Amino acid sequence: MRPRPDRIERLPEQYFTTLLARVVAAGADVIDLGRGNPDVPPPAHVVDALVDSARDGTVAVHGYPPFAGLPEAKEAIAARYASMYGVALDPEREVAFLPGTTTALVELALVLAERGERILLPDPGYPDYNSAVALAGAQRVALPLAEDGRPEWEEALRDGVAAVYLNYPANPAAVAAPAGVFADAIAFAHDTGAAIVHDFAYADLVYDGRRPASFLAEDGAREVGVEMFSLSKSYGMAGWRLGFVVGNADVVARLNLLQEHNRSGIFVPLQRAAIAALTGPQETVEERRALYERRRDRVLAAIPEARCEGTFFVWFPLPHGLTFERLLAQHRVALAPGEGFGERGRGFARLSLATSDDALDAGLERLRQAMAAG
Ligand SMILES: Cc1ncc(COP(=O)(O)O)c(C=O)c1O
Repeated sequence: MRPRPDRIERLPEQYFTTLLARVVAAGADVIDLGRGNPDVPPPAHVVDALVDSARDGTVAVHGYPPFAGLPEAKEAIAARYASMYGVALDPEREVAFLPGTTTALVELALVLAERGERILLPDPGYPDYNSAVALAGAQRVALPLAEDGRPEWEEALRDGVAAVYLNYPANPAAVAAPAGVFADAIAFAHDTGAAIVHDFAYADLVYDGRRPASFLAEDGAREVGVEMFSLSKSYGMAGWRLGFVVGNADVVARLNLLQEHNRSGIFVPLQRAAIAALTGPQETVEERRALYERRRDRVLAAIPEARCEGTFFVWFPLPHGLTFERLLAQHRVALAPGEGFGERGRGFARLSLATSDDALDAGLERLRQAMAAG
């Protein structure tokens, strides 16, 4: 066989795969607070919708689905955006239905950037954006985030920038969208011609009475960008692989074109389940949010220097000399080491609230002892 093509060679190490392998190799007694895998299952009516649909033996269910998604699914996300964020979307032109945000963030790099162009990524930021940039053959450029999560735009390169990825509530920095951040991003887009991609995977997970802030609610947003929405976190459906890209109609059309060539749609029972999640009772969204907020409060009580305004992660500086390796080897607790999220993450760690209450309490006790020992 010929050597691996460059697009595979240039892929960075997959941060979470490597992290999980290190934690598993360390032994079964390690408490893993590094991983963000939602622990509360989806609402029962969503599971019922999947099963009921799958029992229908017709070709409309088990044959190839409409490539760009069922119109009802796109109408359902549009209705949620109207009711929750006050954003009116045209379901046919401004909504693309994709198998999860991970797929979306890769495909967006493919449809936005020419080979060699730059994509600005938040630092610290979600490591999978690096994979997207690499697959597109684009150049990754760090967009440093200040303490409050605001991009340091004055530091940002402006030439040859095809796209800027932003993410609020932010993983790993756990900040909600600072006031004015989207307006600044739109101004940057107008100045440079870059597209804005806002990752809203943690849309519903904000705390202390904050309201979820959609990029698309900002004036002029859909002229310059799109927002990614995921069912993974709001509805506990990470394994189902369901998400949307909403906003700029040209970008949505490019994604739909790519998916005609590349994926051939989403299994209809999964689409029916997505409709049930988006249009059915929404109480579980608030219950889930409140559960994470209670867990967050327990972490903040144990680690006062920690921060979390949103997401199901807590972000904090590790005491000098206390590394991921030492925590794992000596204290038997795993966190996600900050440097994997970018240079600005060095010296920090990310702790996940998506774990059982018992594991969280036991892990916090180990962490408290480790931090006291220094
Ligand atoms: C910031 C961020 N974006 C995107 C994703 C991927 O979400 P999905 O399950 O929709 O692929 C995650 C998952 O952890 C995430 O943390």
